[in-house]
Amino acid sequence: MTVDTPVNGTHEAIKAGLGLDHRAMLSKSAIARPPSAIRSLFPQELIPGMLSLLAGKPNASTFPFESISLGLKNGDKIDITGSDLDDALQYSATAGLPRFIEWLVQWQHKIHGRDIVRKGDQVKDGKNSWRVTVGAGSQDLLTKTFHALLNPGETCLAERPAYSGILPPLQTMGINIIAVEGDREGMSPVSLEDILANWHTNVSTRDLPFPKFVYTTPTGANPTGTTASEQRKKENLDIARRYGILILEDDPYMFISFQGLGEGTPETRRRVRTYWSLEQDDAERYGGTGWVLRFDSFSKVLSAGIRVGFLSGPNTILDAIDLDTSSANLQPNGAAQAMVLALLERWGIDGFLRHCDTVAEFYQNRRNNFEQKAQKVLGTNNGKQKAVAEWITPVAGMFLWFKLKLPPTDEGVEEGDSFSLIGEKALKNLVLAVPGVAFMPDSKTTCYVRTSFSLIPEEDVEEAFQRLRKTVIEAWQESGHAMP
Ligand SMILES: Cc1ncc(COP(=O)(O)O)c(C=O)c1O
Repeated sequence: MTVDTPVNGTHEAIKAGLGLDHRAMLSKSAIARPPSAIRSLFPQELIPGMLSLLAGKPNASTFPFESISLGLKNGDKIDITGSDLDDALQYSATAGLPRFIEWLVQWQHKIHGRDIVRKGDQVKDGKNSWRVTVGAGSQDLLTKTFHALLNPGETCLAERPAYSGILPPLQTMGINIIAVEGDREGMSPVSLEDILANWHTNVSTRDLPFPKFVYTTPTGANPTGTTASEQRKKENLDIARRYGILILEDDPYMFISFQGLGEGTPETRRRVRTYWSLEQDDAERYGGTGWVLRFDSFSKVLSAGIRVGFLSGPNTILDAIDLDTSSANLQPNGAAQAMVLALLERWGIDGFLRHCDTVAEFYQNRRNNFEQKAQKVLGTNNGKQKAVAEWITPVAGMFLWFKLKLPPTDEGVEEGDSFSLIGEKALKNLVLAVPGVAFMPDSKTTCYVRTSFSLIPEEDVEEAFQRLRKTVIEAWQESGHAMP
């Protein structure tokens, strides 16, 4: 293995096959953050026989709640009562309710094949140590990860286009976001390697600190709807490991994948392996695991408002994130975790996977209708009209990313600008889509728009597209150019 680029102070370690030095990757504020004097003693309370005078926990007997009763749409009822309720309503571990954490660790084992080696109540295996922490959705954990890893003025890589939610926290921190180009399968290894290999000579990067991570949404990406194959992930992971950067795998749409849906059972159906799973292959050669931070979310398959997501990754980085949590909000919402846990315990992983497949089927049907109408109205409709848009068929998630055929802008942007189109003409025509610039780390002008097929009533889709088509045609008419 050769690494020609000094990275993050870990060059020698990587060259020697020792893996990433996670401590060396932490931001100054993460290193300076003192542990909570009280919370750091919480685990000791669990020692058998311990008499704790420790925390200022309110006495749960004074809480007015008798139970949390969940009624499921299939008619089932789940009641959270007794000590489960007390735990849910009480201050608890910073990473999350211990039983919930345990469940999530088992989940990572069963779904992604991650090895578990236990020491105490943590998952540890020397260099391959990893654990799980819970947050108020994956957004919470993404932002905390940025704080844990980056100092103002430092650099990261993000696929272009990227989930727009990562941009404000990074921009506010003054982070240089270098865009990795995408294609039909999302983040391109050619672009990734090109950026990293030429970092110190390329005029746009040579004066910047070497990046610590690359951010990607590998399944049903928001906004592009693209999904990376296993081969694609292997290539990107290989590059990340050769250059000594982390992969931030933000994968909230993993369980809304249409690939392999209906083949076999939900438990056995073929699923594309994740970066989190793949980093176990060949791990010894790269000094162990610890190259991937994986963000999971219950928002898309259980509830978005419940605000429960979780992060899996190397202990050192998760420890820094937990210190952030302990100073920002002490812990994730216990009642919300207890609700998810109660459901997962009732269903088991297999039941959860079965539920996810019904969700995936729902979105697949919507995708089919949406795309069929798009073909009819925005495409050529079997050669009967000029297309005003093109797109890649999404095989997961809830987004369709249209490349609109727009007139060139007055500033000379050949492919046109969807921002002014949506902000002015589309609004007037009563149709809305998100202008693509919202997903561009560098605010690059673009002709793309993101549309979502998750909510719009199926019978309104055709009309929405008619309005979009009208909007595009008006733009050409007003531009004075002939539409090709
Ligand atoms: C790619 C991506 N990451 C993260 C999030 C945030 O999810 P959560 O609700 O878990 O915070 C979203 C929400 O739309 C998303 O699309």
